[in-house]
Amino acid sequence: MGDTSSNQMWGGRFAAGPDAIMEAINASIGFDKRMAAQDIAGSRAHAAMLAATGILSDSDAAAIREGLLTVLSEIEAGKFTFSTALEDIHMNVEARLKTLIGDAAGRLHTARSRNDQVATDFRLWVRDQIDAAIEGLQALIRALLAQAEAGADWVMPGFTHLQTAQPVTWGHHMMAYVEMFARDLSRLRDARARMNECPLGAAALAGTSFPINRDMTAQALGFDRPAANSLDAVSDRDFALEFLSAASICAMHLSRFAEELVIWSSAQFRFVTLSDRFSTGSSIMPQKKNPDAAELIRAKVGRIFGANVALMMVMKGLPLAYSKDMQEDKEQVFDAADNLMLALAAMEGMVKDMTANRSNLAAAAGSGFSTATDLADWLVRVAGIPFRDAHHVTGTLVAMAEAQGCDLPDLTLAQMQSVHAGITDDVFGVLGVENSVASRMSYGGTAPAQVRAQVARWKEVLG
Ligand code: ARG
Repeated sequence: MGDTSSNQMWGGRFAAGPDAIMEAINASIGFDKRMAAQDIAGSRAHAAMLAATGILSDSDAAAIREGLLTVLSEIEAGKFTFSTALEDIHMNVEARLKTLIGDAAGRLHTARSRNDQVATDFRLWVRDQIDAAIEGLQALIRALLAQAEAGADWVMPGFTHLQTAQPVTWGHHMMAYVEMFARDLSRLRDARARMNECPLGAAALAGTSFPINRDMTAQALGFDRPAANSLDAVSDRDFALEFLSAASICAMHLSRFAEELVIWSSAQFRFVTLSDRFSTGSSIMPQKKNPDAAELIRAKVGRIFGANVALMMVMKGLPLAYSKDMQEDKEQVFDAADNLMLALAAMEGMVKDMTANRSNLAAAAGSGFSTATDLADWLVRVAGIPFRDAHHVTGTLVAMAEAQGCDLPDLTLAQMQSVHAGITDDVFGVLGVENSVASRMSYGGTAPAQVRAQVARWKEVLG
């Protein structure tokens, strides 16, 4: 509802209050109240600094700092009445502070603007989310390591083009995701290190004539240093974009894994059984157990990457410094962060609870001529023929087996020798999947010993 009187915070030059539609499009309190704790932390640091530099009296600063704690406890207790007329979290907090402590509240906004205030609040909020995402990723990586360790030598088919390629181990497959999520971890840490500069004190855009101490506020809020250019400090949202971009890549990884779980849990594959705790039923088909959590994780990348694109579009045409367009930064980031945390937690839960169906994995590992490459490699090693020729000989044997409806190890030695005379009985040793995976001892290969070495390395890295 529009108020007929002008705004108490900035209405000095206004004769009338805003139209109701103006108020509706202008207000951000509906969503930026999520930054209340960060806003109050920023204001408390600012007040302490104003007192330390003699800009504010100690008694005013003490009243402000104390009053802000009261406001925070009211908000946390759900007793705070947010007002749309007061636009945003910054003015809602300050107005309430004025009711609580009187005129001293009006001194808090000395040497600052909502522009550096919101940039600081939002940075603090995003930093908290980065920390939470790092924790979520670490928990997921630990769950994957436990799966990899248990199944370091369980054989399964490895695919390219989703066609059987070569046998791999379950542990190796799990560890592939450990690599991906560890890169996500490192991207988030990079982003955190780069974003950890404090905008507070940049004021509206040009800095301030008051003798403030920006190092003091930066330090109080856990920043490494104050941001070095006031124009950039109030107009930069790279930190949010870096978070969204790291979140997008992480969500893409989660989605790929989710897709595999959907395939693997189908009746046609039966590679894994997802727990009841992370599955749902169908209201019409009694036999159904659906991988809904995996499907929803797969879908989350859409909205998270959408947020990344949306904020890029908001920012791309903005001249320096602050423009109100930038108020549109928050909802996208809030939504992306909420959904990333949920997806990470759901994936961790699914990975912890899922059961690999070892015998199905092993049976599938041996089908589809998965050891054809081992046969070709054997021909190179033992019969001494060039790989291209070995490839051709093996291809002929695959066609022969396919025509007979059997697998490669089911061909007789005589049949094999009819294609290449140099083949001996020893060849059957390399056609077994266990031998196949054990032989892939190159660094980063699928051999159980390599997988165990990688599990040990990551356990040490994670601490
Ligand atoms: N609610 C605003 C935002 O989210 C706060 C900054 C307002 N600054 C201004 N110059 N009107 O961006």
